[in-house]
Formats: sequence, structure tokens, C-alpha cells
Amino acid sequence: MASVRATAHPNIALVKYWGKKSAAGNIPAVPSLSITLDSLTATTELTEATSDQFVLNGEEQSGAAKDEKLTRFLSYLRERHDVPPLTISSTNNFPTAAGLASSAAGFAALVTAVDQLCALNLSTKALSELARAGSASAARSILGGFVGLTGPKFVAESIATREHWPLQVVVAITNTGKKSVSSTEGMTRSAVTSPYYSNWLDTANADYDRARAAIQSKNFTELAEVSEHSCLKMHAVMQTTQPPLMYWNPASLACIQKIQNLRAQGVDVFFTIDAGPQIKAVCTQNSVDSVATILAQMPGVLSIEKIGLGGPAQAKG
Ligand code: DP6
Repeated sequence: MASVRATAHPNIALVKYWGKKSAAGNIPAVPSLSITLDSLTATTELTEATSDQFVLNGEEQSGAAKDEKLTRFLSYLRERHDVPPLTISSTNNFPTAAGLASSAAGFAALVTAVDQLCALNLSTKALSELARAGSASAARSILGGFVGLTGPKFVAESIATREHWPLQVVVAITNTGKKSVSSTEGMTRSAVTSPYYSNWLDTANADYDRARAAIQSKNFTELAEVSEHSCLKMHAVMQTTQPPLMYWNPASLACIQKIQNLRAQGVDVFFTIDAGPQIKAVCTQNSVDSVATILAQMPGVLSIEKIGLGGPAQAKG
């Protein structure tokens, strides 16, 4: 039976996506801007089968463990393309569903593999649109480097290559467990219950424009300020959702304060955090080694990883 493999990397949003305009096709309510990471990789292998099967990190998923998002996505895919029943085997070399964008990398790898297996010959834009239907952040993992996802179409566009500004990221893992509330459910709740949600929507375009300009001119301080602001606004919305979405733990907060102190002392570093307690410290090449050493010694930090910027999703034949 025919079989193909594709890989994709997680991405980290510097200007965050939180909230949907429409659940059909996963249209975001705000623009977002990300960096694609190197070295963390999702690999998806597809084999034609007699019925759909999903294997995650070597374990067949059935019953409650079956991924609803994936099932919904396969229906969406088959309404548009002729795709046979598949065995989908996905492997992540990083913790799944702990705020490290595993679904982004997973769906980007999946659509790239489907394109190859079924000889769909989709354009990068069409792949990004398809990946978005799986998880909106996955639309960004189709491309490498600095990536924008803006309306009205919300397909990924390249803002700059990784060579333009080879930033580095120190990921500090503070908990390897699965998050208790998924992003999809969390953002739906925020839209209905957070009193700050409308302000979040109103200010997102300005953050996006500011971050894009900072990347183009390689202005680290400007990118640091707007990225931390976008992250803290998203977490303010999360924390004022009812019931509250509190993704941080004490180590996350300690790392935030440490990173702010370091920047005040002139070190090139800023933080960002997604729907989980891990800290992502964005650095320049000059600062990455010292930031990694300092974060590794923080109480509650279990491990750290230094990661450069990554390339696009790729089929492996
Ligand atoms: C906090 O893309 O996982 O990481 O579109 O519902 O699948 P769905 O959500 P998802 O949300 C990511 C949210 C975030 C911020 C970001 O990556 O922009």
C-alpha cells in the first residue's frame, strides 16, 4: 500500500491568536504573527488502509483518546478532496498538548502528507488554508521563519526568512502534563465571558503592524515590548474568562520576572507563553547561552532547550 511521510515544526506566536470569527474552517478573530521553530518536529506517516486509524507516538488511539479535532478535520478534508481511509501515524519529539503547539505541527505535517499521498498538488496557500481547518495555528507551520496570518483570507504569508534575523528561543519546560482546557474550548469560553475580549479584538491589528515593522527593521526592543504586551493581554483575557483559564504555574511567573529583569539590565530577551505553563524566551544569538544557563537554574524549571528558527513543512516522499 502507498505510504508517505511529512514533517513540520511547531511555531510560537509573538502576536497571539485567541478567538474565532467562525468555527467553520477555523477563521481567527485576530491577526497573528509567529516564528517557526527548528529541531522540535512532528512527523506524520500516512498509509492507505481499509478504515481510519490514528497512532500517536506509537500508541493506537481509540475510544476516549480518539482525537475529535482530527475526526472533524478528516470529514472537512473529504468534503473537498478524494482521500482514502488512512492509517495516520504521528510522532512528536516534544511533549504533546502541553502548550508547545503540537497540534500546529501535527496538522501542518498531516496536510503536507495528504497532498503528497493523493497527488493533490496544492499551493502553499491552499495547504495553509487546509491546515487552518485542523487548527488555526497550524496554518502558520506550513511556512518557516517569520510568518503572518491575517484577514480576510487567513492563509500564512512569509514576513521574513529565518536568515533575515536568526533569533533563538530558549524553551523552559515547567510541566510535562497535558493541559486541562484545550485552546479551542478556552477561546470559545473567553469570547462569551471575558469582559476584556472586545478590547483584545480592537487592539490586535495595531500589535500586528508594530511587530511586523519591528521584524523588518530588526528592532529587538520594539519586538520584545509588543510581543510581551500581546502575550499578557491574551493571558488577561484567559484569566478573566469564567471559569478562569490559569495556564501559568509559579515557575512560569518566576521566569517572567527574571526575563524582565534581564532585559532591564540590557540582555536581549523577552518572554512569551501559550495555553500552557512553558516559557519561551526569545533571544538574539548574543544572549541565548547566558539566558539558557540562567533559566535552567530557576526553581521549577524541569528542562530547557535552545532552538533556532525552522523551515517549512516538508514531504519526505
Ligand atoms: C495560545 O491553534 O491550538 O497557542 O484553532 O482552536 O485549534 P484552534 O486553536 P490553536 O490555538 C493556539 C492559541 C495559542 C496562540 C497562538 O498560537 O497564536
